[in-house]
Amino acid sequence: MEINKVIRGNCLDLFKDISDNSIDLIITDPPYNISKENDNRDRSKLNSPIMRRESPLRYDFGKWDNMSRDDFIEFTKQWLKECCRVLKDGGTIISFFNKEDISLLGWEAKQFGIRTRTIFTWCKSNPVPSFRKVNYLSATEYLWIGSKGTKSWTFNFKQQKEMKNYMVTANGSVYKETEHPTEKPKLLIKHLIDIHSNKGDLILDCFGGSGTTAICSKELGRNFILFELSEDYCKMAEKRLSQNVLLPLDIKQDGGNGLPPTLKSVGIRPTSVDVPKGFEGRILLVKQQEVKSGCDANDDGIPPSTKVTGYPA
Ligand SMILES: C[S@@+](CC[C@H](N)C(=O)[O-])C[C@H]1O[C@@H](n2cnc3c(N)ncnc32)[C@H](O)[C@@H]1O
Repeated sequence: MEINKVIRGNCLDLFKDISDNSIDLIITDPPYNISKENDNRDRSKLNSPIMRRESPLRYDFGKWDNMSRDDFIEFTKQWLKECCRVLKDGGTIISFFNKEDISLLGWEAKQFGIRTRTIFTWCKSNPVPSFRKVNYLSATEYLWIGSKGTKSWTFNFKQQKEMKNYMVTANGSVYKETEHPTEKPKLLIKHLIDIHSNKGDLILDCFGGSGTTAICSKELGRNFILFELSEDYCKMAEKRLSQNVLLPLDIKQDGGNGLPPTLKSVGIRPTSVDVPKGFEGRILLVKQQEVKSGCDANDDGIPPSTKVTGYPA
C-alpha cells in the first residue's frame, strides 16, 4: 500500500491492501451514528449575543453518520477487527467514539488481543451554549485507547503535568481550517502522536475526513495512510497536505501557556523564533493561519476581531 497519500474508498475494502501487523499507531475518528438528517440550526438571528453565530449549529453530518443501529454495530465491529489485524504487536489504537457506545470498542477488541489502556477525554473550553437550558453543555468527547499484544507499547511519557488523561482545548469554531463538519483539533492529535509513536513510524487513519491525522503525522515526521470515502473530503485533505508549513510557535493548549488571550497571536508566522524563558509550549510546525472572525471568543469576553491566539513573534 502506498504511504503518505490520501486514499479514496471504503475502508472495509481498502484494509485488504494492508498486511497483518504492519501499523505502529492507529488514530481514527469513525462515524458516531449521531447525525440527525436535515437538522442544522440557524443561529444568526438569535437575540442573545452569546448564542448568536453566523454559522449554523450542525447536527446533520452526512449519510456516513446515519445508519440503523444494527448496521452501525456491525460496521463498527468490522472496521475494528481490521484495525486489530493490521496493528503491530506493541502498537496502539486510539479511536474517538460516542459516549454511549465507547465500551463496545474495548469489549470487541479484547478477543483480538487488544488491552484497553484508558479512556481519554477531550474537554472543550468553549462548548456550544445551551439553547434550552435543561441539561449540561456538551463539553466533552471521548477517545478509547488500547494496545496490542504482549510487547511493551510505545509510550513517550512527557512531564507529569502533560500526562493527564484529558486535554482542555477549544472546539471547532476556533481552530477549524476546513469545512469538514467534524474536523478535530491538531493540538490534541499531535499530543497523542507524540506520546504513542516515534519518528518514522507508520500511522493509519481509516476515517480520514479533512486529513487532520495525516497533517499532524507529516508535521511530526511520521508516515501515514489515510482512507476517506468522500471525494470532497479527500480533496480537502490533499489541499491541506499540499500547503506550505512555516515554523511558528503554537500554543500547547487553549489558554494553557499562561498568557492572557490578548497576548496570544495566530497569524503571520516567523520562520524561526526565540523561545522566551519560562515559555512552556513546544514549537510545532503549523500551517500559516489567520485569525478567524466569528470564532467563539465569548467565553473569555474578547471579541473575535481583537482576539489573537498563539505567541507574539
Ligand atoms: C468523524 S469524520 C473524521 C474527521 C477527521 N477526524 C477530521 O479531523 O477531519 C469521519 C469520516 O469518515 C468518513 N467515512 C465514513 N464511512 C467511511 C468508510 N466506510 N470508509 C472510509 N471513510 C469513511 C466520512 O466521510 C468522514 O469524513
